[in-house]
Amino acid sequence: MPKLGVNIDHVATLRQARRGYEPDPLLAAKLCEKAGAHSIVAHLREDRRHINDEDIELLKKNVKTRFNLEMSINPEIVQIACQIKPDQATLVPERRQEITTEGGLDVLKYFTPIQKVTHLLKAKDIVVSLFVAPDKKQIDAAYKIGVNMIELHTGHYASAKTKQEQTKELKKIKTMTYYARRLGLIVNAGHGLNYQNTERIAEIKEIAELNIGHSIISKAVFVGLEEAVKDMLKVMAS
Ligand code: PXP
Repeated sequence: MPKLGVNIDHVATLRQARRGYEPDPLLAAKLCEKAGAHSIVAHLREDRRHINDEDIELLKKNVKTRFNLEMSINPEIVQIACQIKPDQATLVPERRQEITTEGGLDVLKYFTPIQKVTHLLKAKDIVVSLFVAPDKKQIDAAYKIGVNMIELHTGHYASAKTKQEQTKELKKIKTMTYYARRLGLIVNAGHGLNYQNTERIAEIKEIAELNIGHSIISKAVFVGLEEAVKDMLKVMAS
């Protein structure tokens, strides 16, 4: 069974609705860990729409499992990451107007800047992962950059409108997971995964970790965060 990284961005989204102090992302991280999450994920966006600089400082100090910082290659954010030194940095594309991360990085197009940032982060002993589409050319480029970890974008699989389309996307993720593993890369996956569609992804034995945010935080509104995390772990184990 893959490990579970819980993305707590949307706890901060709710806090920012009132620009106040609650709900507290750090408390969320602690509860996720208590419920069995294997890592905590947070995205410090350039516009600070949810997670802010203080949050990532506190997460770095207090997360007991592994702190995975999602980030763009914006120089200001890179500088902060180098100071904070999360256990892991997952490089993602970022556009100001997007609702959430749309698609994977274009590693081919931005090869040089991504490689430069990868070197800067690695020099600080931060494990670097690249968020990419399940696409051979992108995976080859990621390998060439010199990372040893990637996260495959499961968004198309998650938003498939028919079972047939979903199966086609699942096959792509499976094939590309095995391809990347043969290159020696550690393969994670995430985006759009929920209590209905995660089981089929979790069956792919070569995937090391699934990063899931929105659906867990949404369920937590009704059943509490610990219960929501435990329920996702059950789905992944089934
Ligand atoms: N992985 C990456 C790289 C992401 O950017 C996100 C969204 O922040 C997720 C996983 C989690 O996606 P979701 O909130 O749809 O579960």
